[in-house]
Amino acid sequence: MNTPKRYLITAALPYANGLKHIGHLAGAYLPADIYARYLKAQKRDVVFVCGSDEHGTAIPIQATKEGTTAQAIIDKYHPIIEQNFKDLGIGFDIYHRTSDPLHHETASEFFKDLEAKGDLETKTSEQYFDEAANTFLADRYIKGTCPNCGHSEAYGDQCEKCGKSLSPEELINPVSTLSGNAPIKKETTHWYLPLNRHEDFLRKWILAEHANDWRPAVIGQCKSWIEGGLQPRAVTRDLDWGVKVPVAGGDGKVLYVWFDAPIGYISATKQWAINNNKDWKPYWNDPETKLVHFIGKDNIVFHCIIFPVMLKLHGNILPENVPANEFMNLEGDKMSTSRGWSIEMDDYINKWIKPENGGTGLADSLRFYLTAIAPESKDSEFTWKGFQESVNGELVSIFANFVNRTWVLMHKLCNSKVPKIHPEYLDDEDHALLLTVKDAKEKITGLLELYKFREAQFEVINLARIGNQYMQKKEPWILAKNIDTDPTAQAKIDNCMHGCLQLSANLAILINPFLPFTAQKMCHLMKVVPKMLEWENAGEFNLLKVGYTLRPPELLFRKIEDAEIEAELTQLSANAAAKKINMETTPVTTPTGADKEGTKNELKPEIVFDDFGKIDLRVGTIIEAKKVEKADKLLELLVDLGFEQRTILSGIAMHFKPEDIVGKQVTIVANLAPRKMRGIESKGMILMAEDAAGKLYFVSPSEAIAAGSTIA
Ligand code: 2FM
Ligand code: ZN
Repeated sequence: MNTPKRYLITAALPYANGLKHIGHLAGAYLPADIYARYLKAQKRDVVFVCGSDEHGTAIPIQATKEGTTAQAIIDKYHPIIEQNFKDLGIGFDIYHRTSDPLHHETASEFFKDLEAKGDLETKTSEQYFDEAANTFLADRYIKGTCPNCGHSEAYGDQCEKCGKSLSPEELINPVSTLSGNAPIKKETTHWYLPLNRHEDFLRKWILAEHANDWRPAVIGQCKSWIEGGLQPRAVTRDLDWGVKVPVAGGDGKVLYVWFDAPIGYISATKQWAINNNKDWKPYWNDPETKLVHFIGKDNIVFHCIIFPVMLKLHGNILPENVPANEFMNLEGDKMSTSRGWSIEMDDYINKWIKPENGGTGLADSLRFYLTAIAPESKDSEFTWKGFQESVNGELVSIFANFVNRTWVLMHKLCNSKVPKIHPEYLDDEDHALLLTVKDAKEKITGLLELYKFREAQFEVINLARIGNQYMQKKEPWILAKNIDTDPTAQAKIDNCMHGCLQLSANLAILINPFLPFTAQKMCHLMKVVPKMLEWENAGEFNLLKVGYTLRPPELLFRKIEDAEIEAELTQLSANAAAKKINMETTPVTTPTGADKEGTKNELKPEIVFDDFGKIDLRVGTIIEAKKVEKADKLLELLVDLGFEQRTILSGIAMHFKPEDIVGKQVTIVANLAPRKMRGIESKGMILMAEDAAGKLYFVSPSEAIAAGSTIA
């Protein structure tokens, strides 16, 4: 496509059934925002839409958990999520919601159009029914074991552990989440989208036309769907929460959430058009519009196969690209709100962004780190330590430091004004600086066009790094010392500071899509209007007028302290422990009974002395400890048992640093059958005590004793 006439950017509509975490932010919203901001800085015609996904079984299920109604749930979470996005600088042009009548109307019309054209089929089949609750069991009302990964809590539409999209029939040992009973089968009629009719179209459009410009992982998933044989997909459900099926025979049925949710992008565009007195139609009907969907990898099939077929049948344009991200893990484990192993956007905002706690700079600090580790081609890992290192090491020490030094020196050595250039004293380095900026702009532009946000941001920081090197080489502070004896000193200082100031202005433009709050702050320092941030201005050294007085220096970012990171880690463990206890004591969250382990206070079933006597417990001394590669939780320990030394793997790496535990005496189950993990054989187990907050303690003798001593 040549330069498109207009852009429609979408970010997956989050379910309004709870708070959203920073993994969601990194997966879809932040990259979409960077792209939209970049395009807007290019003065392109862009509409960036999102909104709450308020249908599907996830909402009424949450309502049951919270003891309230589905409507109350969406009314609670929709505004929180919307505000969270604002606080993190996600600049949607509209944040709509699928419960809005405009959406119901739009989705109904869409369905009726396909139905009238004969593009849907109806089929009567047997589906799971809960006799006790007297209802069919759609999607998340049914749980069972995932046939793909064995996870015992997979839903009827998807396994959240392995991400596989499922149908209820595929679950092993299905159970109703309403009653906890095994469901029976009962006949019901539904509408289906016959994907099988569109195989040729999908093969050509995805596998032939987009094989080279879509991400390999996206193409890979599409290929496996297409090769696996496309089947008709049910697009209605027996449920009373959602968009009513608007044709005869649809009583008691609603559109499947994955049929109506992506249509939410269209209704959001309509609402945006109403709000802004614009025409929404070209954004969805004109082939000169570039449509881009930003999503996480679990949404690929819906955005690359199902929705495009719907769009084609309805006569709309198709997406140009679907740059799906992989997942972002947290401190060695999958992010999960239900397990308490996550950082909710809301929490981060309350702790790190609210003005009384440190100002908006910390919204950009998070944006920066999430982009620096963006899971663009493989899963990535958020660690609090990594956050600290990235912010302190790059944002503070490189970017903010360059801008700050520039401002301090300009005020000190150039009378607080943009100094003029003295052409006769310009040297190769001064000339090279402008060329470097031009090259960097070109490179960053190319990377942004290819959705390579991580690399693009790296290049911006690199430009600041070059600025620091330039200043270091010019040493204007040394020149200033010789000002009385060297008649060229002030001219050279002026040239250097002029270059640094113009470079700072360029940095503001180039960092703007990534860190919009920072770019605004820099505009304030430069006393320029935000219009200066337009992309076409980058690559020029005339952005700040000679003689113009600039504001006094202000730090762009603050350092993250060790204590803050430790507090976060403690909080994370405590949250996870609290949820664990909650899950163990709240049967409603584990209706299958699969993990009812009893409460912490309940003892395990009674054993006789002989059972206990079989366990050989010994005191061991840890003599070596190191991390196991690619296993964030495991430490490999060499333990002295007096009569021998053994390797034991222990899942305590998130709790203890290897260097801190060497020399510790611990309790070992010495006759446990060996087990291989990550290719290493572990011979025995270290006993740990765990408190209510999830903190771990070694079980050690009260005084040092000989290694190998027995415990009984
Ligand atoms: O996975 C999810 O969170 C869905 N609510 C995404 C919907 S995207 C679009 F189709 F609306
Ligand atoms: Zn699975």
